[in-house]
Amino acid sequence: MKLILHVWRQLSANQKGQFVRYEANDVSPDMSFLEMLDVVNEQLTGRGELPIAFDHDCREGICGACGFMINGVAHGPSRGTATCQLHMRLFNDGDEVWVEPWRSSAFPVVKDLIVNRSAFDRIVAAGGFISVQTGGAPDANTIPVPKDSAERSMDAAACIGCGACVAACPNSSASLFTAAKISHLGLLPQGQPERRRRALSMVAQMDLESFGGCSLFGECQEACPKEISIDFIARMNRDFLKATFTATE
Ligand code: SF4
Ligand code: FES
Repeated sequence: MKLILHVWRQLSANQKGQFVRYEANDVSPDMSFLEMLDVVNEQLTGRGELPIAFDHDCREGICGACGFMINGVAHGPSRGTATCQLHMRLFNDGDEVWVEPWRSSAFPVVKDLIVNRSAFDRIVAAGGFISVQTGGAPDANTIPVPKDSAERSMDAAACIGCGACVAACPNSSASLFTAAKISHLGLLPQGQPERRRRALSMVAQMDLESFGGCSLFGECQEACPKEISIDFIARMNRDFLKATFTATE
């Protein structure tokens, strides 16, 4: 397969970027999208040019490091799939593919396809933890957790922090990410003591970063490689409102 790539190249946050055209030849349908970029990068370095910078780590859809817009869609055309697990068999010989970083003022471009997602880290640092004594693993096993709560908590905990929800949202809202982080703890007994404080501080931190508000477009759950439901946003809003009213009582 041969593809024409238009890749966003930007040397640093302070410099202007632009799309640059590349030809990707001998692309195997069995390659992942990142492996295809690896091959392009080998050719670029062979010619003495700078390789395309992109984030990656596990390459098996669990770490959240990878991700960029592929033909205007976060993580590309396959639903529930992170960029590292996207295969070239989904493209046709001769396709033109536009590749660009997440677009959000909360995620400034570091270089080429790499953006700074430390805003997510600050939201988690604001409350995405349990600080009460929960004991060791045997203690955890003695606390009964309703099956439905355990499963819903695991659904929320599947969030890998990739940022596709923000990139896909017309408002650049981080609500799906924040809701997933609030919910996976708030659904478990161990997360109850700090449940309200957690919702207040994580939502407050989300608002402090440059994310937009949520108006329930639902693009986030369409783009999410872990198919996290926007139901969690309703749950976050409920927790936040309850915590607000309790705090002002
Ligand atoms: S909610 Fe989904 S899209 Fe958003 S950061 Fe988590 S895994 Fe990525
Ligand atoms: S590289 Fe880890 S999720 Fe893609």
